[in-house]
Amino acid sequence: MKKTKIMVATTNRHKLREIGQVLRGHRVKGHRVIGVRENGRTFEANAIKKVKALKLGTGEIGIADDSGLMVNCLGGKPGVRSARFASPPTPENLCSKLLQLLKNCSARGARFVCVIAVKWPSGRIRTVRGVVAGRIIREMRGRRGFGYDSVFRPCGYKKTFAEMSASQKNRLSHRGRALRKLKTILGA
Ligand code: IMP
Repeated sequence: MKKTKIMVATTNRHKLREIGQVLRGHRVKGHRVIGVRENGRTFEANAIKKVKALKLGTGEIGIADDSGLMVNCLGGKPGVRSARFASPPTPENLCSKLLQLLKNCSARGARFVCVIAVKWPSGRIRTVRGVVAGRIIREMRGRRGFGYDSVFRPCGYKKTFAEMSASQKNRLSHRGRALRKLKTILGA
């Protein structure tokens, strides 16, 4: 397998760990992008903004992940605003606000979406998308992961993402799915 140097436009250590696990074998490092306003209306727009802000070194490719949770009975919210849905945006605050909003809601379908933008040294950019469907349960369960993991149970499973091992979450998750598409594109 050809080892690629991959610069990831993120300081989110959870995302970076998941990306590193799926892209095992490549050289993955995180990089803070400054001055990017994530105010796009789609995950694609925000991922492209972030990847464009990366200054690549020789032989490097850049990637940026924009992701979020879309809840059916909230018309797809929090969506692209998932990271800023509660203040401060701790997992507890994000999940409590969501549970409170869904208190009287029995249709609890939701999906996580992850879009990864990849930029080659030539400046060419492409995006890949991964989605996982599931349900928002009625209380927080599990201590692993980040964000909304403790309230999201993927379809067909009894555990929330926060109760799963890292490798099980990666096998099922939106990010894992997008990253496996990326691997195919990279030919590895
Ligand atoms: P952004 O991509 O930086 O805009 O942040 C996406 C936000 O969506 C994160 O801060 C989390 O709150 C949420 N999110 C995205 N992916 C996941 C995941 O795998 N588990 C839990 N929450 C996630």
